[in-house]
Amino acid sequence: CGIIGYTGHRPAVPLIIEGLRSLEYRGYDSAGVAFIQHKDLVTVRAEGKLANLENKLMGMNVSIATSGMGHTRWATHGIPVERNAHPHMCSDGSLAIIHNGIIENYQPLKNELKALGYTFCSETDTEVLANLIAEGRKQTGALDKGISWALQRVEGAYAVVVYALDMPGVIFGARLSSPFVLGVGQGENFVASDIPAFLPYTRDAVFLENGEMARIEANSWQVLDVKTLEPIEKQVHHIQWDVQAAQKGGYKHFMLKEIFEQPRVITDCMTGRVDWQRKEVSLPELDALPVPRRLHIVACGTSYHAGMWGRHLLENWAQIPVNVEIASEFRYRNPILDPDDVILVISQSGETADTLAGLRIARERGIRVIGLCNVVGSSIARESDTVIYTQAGPEISVASTKAMCSQMTVLTLMALAWGKRKGCLADDILQNAVTGLSKLPGQLEMELPRMRSEAQSIARQYSSARSFFFLGRGQCYPLALEGALKLKEISYIHAEGYASGEMKHGPIALIDPAFPTFALALSDGLYSKVKSNLEEVQARSGKIIALANPGHDLNVDHTWIIPEAWGPLGSFLALPALQLFSYEAADYLGKDVDQPRNLAKSVTVE
Ligand code: G6P
Repeated sequence: CGIIGYTGHRPAVPLIIEGLRSLEYRGYDSAGVAFIQHKDLVTVRAEGKLANLENKLMGMNVSIATSGMGHTRWATHGIPVERNAHPHMCSDGSLAIIHNGIIENYQPLKNELKALGYTFCSETDTEVLANLIAEGRKQTGALDKGISWALQRVEGAYAVVVYALDMPGVIFGARLSSPFVLGVGQGENFVASDIPAFLPYTRDAVFLENGEMARIEANSWQVLDVKTLEPIEKQVHHIQWDVQAAQKGGYKHFMLKEIFEQPRVITDCMTGRVDWQRKEVSLPELDALPVPRRLHIVACGTSYHAGMWGRHLLENWAQIPVNVEIASEFRYRNPILDPDDVILVISQSGETADTLAGLRIARERGIRVIGLCNVVGSSIARESDTVIYTQAGPEISVASTKAMCSQMTVLTLMALAWGKRKGCLADDILQNAVTGLSKLPGQLEMELPRMRSEAQSIARQYSSARSFFFLGRGQCYPLALEGALKLKEISYIHAEGYASGEMKHGPIALIDPAFPTFALALSDGLYSKVKSNLEEVQARSGKIIALANPGHDLNVDHTWIIPEAWGPLGSFLALPALQLFSYEAADYLGKDVDQPRNLAKSVTVE
């Protein structure tokens, strides 16, 4: 979602709309603004593109307001309709808020507020937060204290902006796990989810950390500790980027930005689904369904690879027989489907024609369909019996990266949730998996910069190769397929992904010193098998780059060491290495990384 709050000397509403437009790359399905005019706190919201909101504002005289806030929603929960659009007001209309993120404990808070007489006109967690802040203000006697009071009771992730009728020139903002930045201007100040929103007016920015709150007025700004309201010293950064670079968060390409977003994606994907204290996993979307007797995963491209990867966990932990199939094949076979079978369709866009066709075939036959999608309200999401959203945020680069990471996260949670429900998941596996998952975002965050420089140096050395093999076994086999797909897609270097044990059945005939192999040789149960396969390649003078964990005993041309993670979670650290290798090769070769030739982000034709 995109957020902007403004207080200063210019007409606020047009400025806010422009700010929202520059956040357009974050996705749109509804938008809204709030401003104070003639002693009224006015909110205007519209479903769909920003133009719809502009049309609504057209007939209104909005030029007087010099403060206000705006929001564009990219739905992660709830369908994109006007009633779910932000801003949301508290029930007496004294304040409005906009919010990114999820309030996990909104239901008990809502019950409590209802008992105190608060009323609600939407189903959103945001409206609960608006009323909670109003209640906090009542109890503490001040808005800043009320926000602090409310935010200490909230569990989840958020960036929130608060705007009150009786304090028209003051905007409050706070963050916990969602991006938030303050723009420092001359006689005007801004808060926003991202820099492009205020870049035409100021290049001076202050980045808020978790647990910090900003208070801005036209001529002053302050950052406070949310809990204590003590002021915090902050550094002002001068931003050099142009608007386009700012949309990419300073990265050269959206693909690179999206690769680096993966630690946050894993966190967002688990928010509300993992109870870290009790070490439990819940996917309420699956509660109404029995655990499937047999599962068919149907998908295309990268989503298909995620499905192949997930099969291992679903079989091992939940003991569900899984068949994974490319959608364009599934739709033209005559698959034997049992009434108790379940189809899991995986699609980032939710619009891929072949995947949608597979879904429809299943539904026509009365088979239940679970959709695993990123885009809320997409065709696959709408037509599935149950939909689980990956919550990865909009993916702009044509080559999919963070979507796969989010799909793998959800598949891990599904395997744990179903295994637990079936009673076949050992307690220690659940405990280890939850602990391992909790560490992943931090591990990845630390590792990504190092991975990138390693990827850069290896890619430069090898990007003159005409062909590559990517090899892996077990869970690393789908990763090998994905590594090869990424390299083909964006660098146009021919690459084939193979199960390493299959090499000797033909492909090894191609090996010579000019045909390198990229091997996944992580320290899992299959390490020694992969090692032998690599020796076979070396015996044919093949060059090898191996992705391995510390403690390996390989003797190949390049060993690229990545940290270990518990069990199958090692894949979450291997995937970005593969993505970065392709990225660096393509960039070095001067290819159009974000929009490779002949490809489309969402393939809506057969
Ligand atoms: C296209 C994209 C791929 C994507 C595939 C499936 O080919 O270029 O990156 O993996 O479609 O897309 P979906 O949206 O269904 O996951």
